[in-house]
Amino acid sequence: MRIDILTILPQLLEGPFSDSIMKRAQDKGLVEIHLHNIRDYSTNKHKNVDDYQYGGGAGMVMSCEPIAALIDKLQGERKYDEIIYMTPDGELLEQDMSNTLCLQENILILCGHYKGVDERIRQMYITKEVSIGSYVLSGGELAAAVLTDSIVRLIPGVLNDETSALTDSFQDNLLSPPVYTRPPEFKGMKVPDVLLSGDFKKIEAWREKEAYQRTKDRRPDLLQ
Ligand code: ADE
Repeated sequence: MRIDILTILPQLLEGPFSDSIMKRAQDKGLVEIHLHNIRDYSTNKHKNVDDYQYGGGAGMVMSCEPIAALIDKLQGERKYDEIIYMTPDGELLEQDMSNTLCLQENILILCGHYKGVDERIRQMYITKEVSIGSYVLSGGELAAAVLTDSIVRLIPGVLNDETSALTDSFQDNLLSPPVYTRPPEFKGMKVPDVLLSGDFKKIEAWREKEAYQRTKDRRPDLLQ
């Protein structure tokens, strides 16, 4: 899988992809993540990528030309399954969306800034608009990192124990049950006996019951 991310702040995205699971996925050749600086495609002598909005009002708008030039170039090199724009008015990111996107070959992600991108870019190029939650970030970069992480960890072979993605919270519309590691007793608090019993049927039943209870208490909307 290949993910191209278009941004005016590529340095902001270097960190999240240069460690841990995201780094391993790239080292293993399971995903290529390419960061592109939109500013490199500005033809303006000041390398501007934004301008005042028509009709007046506070906040700049990201201009069409550099973004279009960059997307045109990338589309000339390969076909993209989705061209995604990160925006607070997009479709809310849920596990299902990541499950679908992890099956794609080539994804392009555009990060917005200021008041967002010129509407004509959205109409002409964007196939999917994604929000990571009902709050406004300073830019789309952190949202793009969240979306990318949620997709990449699902690519077969990325996680060491393949079943660990399948047992994530949300995969069956349930939150995950509580987990414990050594020691068996910590400050007077004991690990539930059943987890030390070695009886895997009982352990599975306990986990299912706890997952259901936790979901009922914290996210009853998932059970509907
Ligand atoms: N850009 C700014 N805020 C955002 C959000 N909540 N989701 C996606 N992109 C954004």
